[in-house]
Amino acid sequence: MRKNIVAGNWKMNTNLQEGIELAKAINERVKTNNCDTGSTGVVIAPPFSHLYAVNEVIDPKKICLAAQNCATEEQGAYTGEISAKMLKSIGVKAVILGHSERRAYYGETSETLLKKVNLVLKNEMKPIFCCGEKLEQREAGNHFTVVENQIKEVLFKLSAQEFEKVVIAYEPVWAIGTGKTATAEQAQEIHAFIRKLVLAQFGQEIADNKTILYGGSCKPSNAKELFGKADVDGGLIGGASLKADDFLGIINKME
Ligand code: 13P
Repeated sequence: MRKNIVAGNWKMNTNLQEGIELAKAINERVKTNNCDTGSTGVVIAPPFSHLYAVNEVIDPKKICLAAQNCATEEQGAYTGEISAKMLKSIGVKAVILGHSERRAYYGETSETLLKKVNLVLKNEMKPIFCCGEKLEQREAGNHFTVVENQIKEVLFKLSAQEFEKVVIAYEPVWAIGTGKTATAEQAQEIHAFIRKLVLAQFGQEIADNKTILYGGSCKPSNAKELFGKADVDGGLIGGASLKADDFLGIINKME
């Protein structure tokens, strides 16, 4: 059985005090979810500066702590970078990689992402790997090819055993922060396509077990319809993860 997950990507929002309050508020109200073994999972990805302190106020059985990025190198003279090993050492369990904002503003490529995915796996954390097309690519009908290439160039370079640890997040760039959600049908169509690619590469069991999240203007009012689709296994949430009420409102749609 695959796991349903709602993950909050805080991006570059909140100061430390606000972040701690938000994490506490979510922690108090998350009930049955279990980070490691349950059938549903709640993940939060605060900024790097908050991770250690946030980890002190959350119950690791309820909430899985994630980072939003990591370095391409293991250690050394890389001023300003944070390594996967450092993240592991402060209690981080998962790392978001390949977010479209990092691809667009920081030049992340499949090549750099493969290095990051490998380092996250080497340090026994889970990569949450983002893919998704831009508006012009969808309008040109290229969205399937774009997503296929993003996945093949990184995730299909992994062994089956490594790939099993990856969570995939489909986030159409035109839906991120725009209020323009993909319809549940559009999400289902591409999630089913992704699962088919996984089936062809790794076989039925791995495809059936793979969690594929939807991201892009997901909120309490549309989460139920999106998560109701057969191949949508939860969401990666930006704006609506910054308010405990909204985030909880989305988590509640998962059950
Ligand atoms: P929004 O939910 O703000 O559209 O952001 C989605 C996202 O980018 C999550 O990673």
